[in-house]
Amino acid sequence: MRSLHHCPAPAKLNLFLHVVGRRADGYHLLQSVFQLIDRSDTLHFDLRDDERIVRTNEVPGVPEEQDLIVRALRLLQAQYRRRHGRLPPGIEVTVEKILPMGGGLGGGSSDAATALMAANHLWQAGLTQQELMDVGLPLGADIPFFLFGQAAFVEGVGEALQPVPGPDCWYVVVEPGVSVPTPAIFSAPDLTRDTRPVTIADFSSSLAVSGRQLSFGKNDLQDVAERLFPPVAEAVAWLGSYGEARMTGSGACVFCAFSGERDADQVLAQVPGKWKAWKAQSLGSHPMKSLLQINEL
Ligand code: C5P
Repeated sequence: MRSLHHCPAPAKLNLFLHVVGRRADGYHLLQSVFQLIDRSDTLHFDLRDDERIVRTNEVPGVPEEQDLIVRALRLLQAQYRRRHGRLPPGIEVTVEKILPMGGGLGGGSSDAATALMAANHLWQAGLTQQELMDVGLPLGADIPFFLFGQAAFVEGVGEALQPVPGPDCWYVVVEPGVSVPTPAIFSAPDLTRDTRPVTIADFSSSLAVSGRQLSFGKNDLQDVAERLFPPVAEAVAWLGSYGEARMTGSGACVFCAFSGERDADQVLAQVPGKWKAWKAQSLGSHPMKSLLQINEL
């Protein structure tokens, strides 16, 4: 096979996100439930006749050496060479980007995870899901989750994952029109870093009792993001009048959960024109699994 086209890179939402500590290297220890949703970037991959990894449409302001997709594919290419004693063919990647940067939806990490899955397949490199996760983790803490490919209770800096039942529901997501740089949130002096650890059973039983997605915990990054980026606070206040509204990741996007599509449609119709907003459904598993016809990514 020489190409893989129309590969989805779905977004994630953090149903809650707690900061429970900090590692010696400054990285924060988190607890979170990550949920995949059906709003995706779309990636196309073509093998090249040389060994170069090339992105056809570069992101303005992001040099190729910093591009997560390019970096992930180069790491996998090096891994391939260690195993097989030669480099695999280069790859040309084209990205149709709809997920905002600095949105807390994991778009950049999801693009990189989809690229790792696609290249592993095109090159027949044979890495297991865990081996791909090990390649991706140093590039971004969210990448292992996308390779895991289903709703997960996530701990550590993002590398310790356990499956949770994927809640079946609809979300309305508001993009407040700002891009939030993750390091600015994590480095804020007033960030809560000592939330009491919870267990996966605490989350599951809360969901079973209330039936509500966002009744458990909170997003510890939200107060800081709202203070530093007032449009985030404005979106939380607006969406909060329709239900429990929460920020995802380090922001900027804010979301609300609904059991039915009609409820989501009604709220969506009210969103002020200054914000981009959309509805999305929870995904049971990563669409690359069925595309590549594999049981384990
Ligand atoms: O890994 P990712 O690209 O998501 O992280 C961006 C930055 O956010 C890191 O360089 C670090 O400063 C901060 N971060 C952190 N603890 C995490 C994840 C990210 O301190 N668990």
